[in-house]
Amino acid sequence: MNSFTFQVPSNILFESGASQKVAELAAGYGAQRILLVTDRGVRDAGLTKVAEDALKAAGRGLVLFEDVVADPPSDVIERAVALCRDERIDLILSIGGGSALDTAKLVAYLAKSGERLDDIYGVGLAKGERLPLLLVPTTAGTGSEVTPIAIVTTPTTEKKGVVSPRLLPDWAILDPELTLGLPGHVTAATGIDAMVHAIEAYTSRHKKNPMSDQLARQALALLSQNIREVCRNGANLEARSQMLLGSMLAGMAFANAPVAAVHALAYPIGAIFHVPHGLSNALVLMGVLRFNLPAAEALYAELAPIIDPDANGLPTGAAARCFVDGLAAICRDCKVPASLAEVGVRESDLPRLAEDAMKQTRLLVNNPREVTYADVFAIYSEALDGRQRQATV
Ligand SMILES: NC(=O)c1ccc[n+]([C@@H]2O[C@H](COP(=O)([O-])OP(=O)(O)OC[C@H]3O[C@@H](n4cnc5c(N)ncnc54)[C@H](O)[C@@H]3O)[C@@H](O)[C@H]2O)c1
Ligand SMILES: [Fe+2]
Repeated sequence: MNSFTFQVPSNILFESGASQKVAELAAGYGAQRILLVTDRGVRDAGLTKVAEDALKAAGRGLVLFEDVVADPPSDVIERAVALCRDERIDLILSIGGGSALDTAKLVAYLAKSGERLDDIYGVGLAKGERLPLLLVPTTAGTGSEVTPIAIVTTPTTEKKGVVSPRLLPDWAILDPELTLGLPGHVTAATGIDAMVHAIEAYTSRHKKNPMSDQLARQALALLSQNIREVCRNGANLEARSQMLLGSMLAGMAFANAPVAAVHALAYPIGAIFHVPHGLSNALVLMGVLRFNLPAAEALYAELAPIIDPDANGLPTGAAARCFVDGLAAICRDCKVPASLAEVGVRESDLPRLAEDAMKQTRLLVNNPREVTYADVFAIYSEALDGRQRQATV
């Protein structure tokens, strides 16, 4: 067996109504002045109220930063860092989707370390100290609450990542009740994102490891068995809980066996066209998986029975194709748009998308099959009119 390292946050609380416990947990760090990092959608939906009330009742000073936007741009993060320093904050709490959580991770790190965001993009460059950090996800998608990763949109609309164990929170606090009101299209897109994390971790080229494998398999089972139900019936708390657990397990898997070409091709779509992260992934997913078949067929065949029991006993090639088609069926059933054209991408945009995807070398090195510019261009072309969603032959 290959040697491996594996890192997760030191504390996880998974409980319905857990957001009420943030005051108690913050007290454990002696925090007096707390910055709440969130976005307006999350706050207007009332998802921060229980935590805010609990913190106020406990007599903590609460400062609000609710200017996070999807795919957080670097200037939003810099503004939050400045507020944090001005207000002499001693703990960061974030309640929201991956955009809020990623922002909070960087604010906790930059406010304490005094470093500049531009200097820490990449793997392992953030080595300083950070403020205590509590993360409460409201989407069952990114798994950001358990990953050492934060993704930023730069002024040149490039998506860059900061990867460092320093970004793992002190507490990941998972409260499935907060995901009950997630709109159907966000539920579908974020759920697909989580499934992609599990799949790409399982086929990750350099850091694939037995712990990530187990987590990825379990995550894929939970997510594929519940995604149709939560898209149909968002109020089903048990199914929402399974999705939140699945997205967290997938987060742990890919935090230690990094994602690859699906994410590399998705990032430019999000950065340039402001397409939600999970939807960007779904739009290139089948194209990338089919491209990967010559290198990853056996691994896809191993995953196939998890999402489709009919794949049991099929020969490797047929099982792998069944896996890709099973994912396409989930996307169809959850009404995820099928083509890049539907989200405003035109043929003339493809060269820029392909050039930007090729810059995602941090991710492309993890892909099971080497990817060239021509390959990326072909995958985008197939995704333009939705051909990628058609059955694998
Ligand atoms: N750190 C990581 O490991 C990691 C992994 C994957 C993706 N990401 C990043 O995470 C970001 C995407 O995060 P996301 O997909 O969670 O979406 P998001 O945080 O961008 O939120 C999407 C929308 O959903 C709304 N929303 C969130 N929770 C809600 C709820 N419970 N009810 C109603 N509305 C709600 C928000 O207000 C927002 O408008 C991207 O920037 C992506 O690059 C990070
Ligand atoms: Fe993702």
